[in-house]
Amino acid sequence: MWKKLMQILTKSTPIENEKDVMLDHEYDGIRELDNVLPPWWLWLFYITIFIGVIYYVRYHFVGDWSSAKEYTEEMAVAKANVDKYLKESGGDINENTAVIMNDAKALENGKKTFDKECAVCHRPDGGGLIGPNLTDDKWIHGGDIHNVFKTIKLGVPEKGMLTWEGKLSPTQIQEVASYILVKLHGTNPPNPKDYPGDPK
Ligand code: HEC
Repeated sequence: MWKKLMQILTKSTPIENEKDVMLDHEYDGIRELDNVLPPWWLWLFYITIFIGVIYYVRYHFVGDWSSAKEYTEEMAVAKANVDKYLKESGGDINENTAVIMNDAKALENGKKTFDKECAVCHRPDGGGLIGPNLTDDKWIHGGDIHNVFKTIKLGVPEKGMLTWEGKLSPTQIQEVASYILVKLHGTNPPNPKDYPGDPK
């Protein structure tokens, strides 16, 4: 069964009949057999020709299919995926596009981030400790959402304010910035820190 299949696929000449297909030349004892091309290989070859013809006709004559078109379509799909991802991960939010989030969920998330990451230096009430008071109008780096976003994102490493880009997602930065501006700013907590860098 197996042998028969191999015979159909290769049409090889049995060893005992090799002399029938032996060619008459010889180089340093190396001789050549004139075997037929194996049918499995020949059929693959025919199939590639057939596919080649289909490509040729469709690309060059029918024109309903081209690499340029395929490229444009794939790029459109990829762009849609990227946009979707950026929207979901908040990756398209930056210091220029940031807005104050006023919904309870965002502010709640912002509070969580603040209490966990920022309160050690800015106090849970934002009154300031190692870092400046975030509740007053004296902003070193500007107090609108764009500036606050930027300060949190890039930090002020030489003054001890960490860079949060990479540790917090853009969405989280926007949320914590909103929490500062909506909930902490203007609250007048007791004993606020008179931070040396604060503008007079
Ligand atoms: C290790 C201490 C530390 C931590 C943690 C920290 N900060 Fe700061 N932060 C500072 C210091 C110090 C400054 C003042 C930088 C300067 O003098 O320019 C500052 C400045 C700021 C400012 C600018 C204030 C202004 O007047 O312009 C904002 C906004 C701010 N931090 C928000 C945050 C947020 C949000 C977090 C948490 C994600 C955070 N900080 C975590 C130390 C810290």
